[in-house]
Amino acid sequence: MSLKINDVSKVFGGVVALSDVSFSVEPRSIFGLIGPNGAGKTTLFNIIAGVFKPTRGSIMMDGRHLENEPNYLRIDRSIARTFQNIRLFPNLTVLQNIVVGMHNKLRCAMIESLFRTSRWRAEEASARERASELLDTFGLGDRKDDIARSLPYGEQRILEITRALVTDSNVLLLDEPAAGLNNVESARLVDFIRMIRNKMGRTILLVEHDMNVVMKVCEHLVVLDHGVKIAEGEPCEIQKNKQVIEAYLGRKFADEAGS
Ligand SMILES: Nc1ncnc2c1ncn2[C@@H]1O[C@H](COP(=O)(O)OP(=O)(O)OP(=O)(O)O)[C@@H](O)[C@H]1O
Ligand SMILES: [Mg+2]
Repeated sequence: MSLKINDVSKVFGGVVALSDVSFSVEPRSIFGLIGPNGAGKTTLFNIIAGVFKPTRGSIMMDGRHLENEPNYLRIDRSIARTFQNIRLFPNLTVLQNIVVGMHNKLRCAMIESLFRTSRWRAEEASARERASELLDTFGLGDRKDDIARSLPYGEQRILEITRALVTDSNVLLLDEPAAGLNNVESARLVDFIRMIRNKMGRTILLVEHDMNVVMKVCEHLVVLDHGVKIAEGEPCEIQKNKQVIEAYLGRKFADEAGS
């Protein structure tokens, strides 16, 4: 699976959110997209996921033009994502949150679920089993029956990402998964992201402001500023890049030191 962003621009009214952005994402890589607030990172995720159409440019996956595919096809077949703000069903259990994420893949019609036919019961049982396996794999096995809102914040994030893994999509988009996590939780997140790539072979695109997480886990970075790609390379190169320090990293570390 290869993902290519070709000369993508996005204009909202008078605001140019992205301007001729191009890059390629290697299959099975952990790829970071960084830059200051308003740089256009979430907008690019929304274009890849099919929420917005680009004003110009194209998104190619294995030679297929994604920008011509409807959003629901992309979510089903190729792209999974999490959002900048956690979106769980807070009053459902951990297991139920995963099973809900599987429902667009189940074949039974609504009417069968209403009458709880034997086919529906069989599908539901296999969905629960698969959900349990996923939770065991990613360390939430002993939390299955807990209500989602009762989990510590870091585990809610891990649950949300685990739910995104139930589709067979090749690419996983994570928008600021470390926001609000403490150091212990973000170290666990780093291990978790690596495990998703190593065990499931997914390609991961990560938008993140926590540079500890970014520099530890990402193999390749693209830096956006005001909708323009200002740099691309390995984390060690990006950390030394003058333009990136000026536009983002320098300011960021100065703010953090001052706060
Ligand atoms: N739906 C929209 N309508 C109008 N303008 C938008 C919309 N979405 C984003 N923008 C604008 O596009 C620009 C890029 O925003 P975006 O949310 O992509 O930035 P970001 O890099 O994700 O920032 P942050 O790090 O704060 O999340 C901003 O100027 C924003 O105000
Ligand atoms: Mg954003």
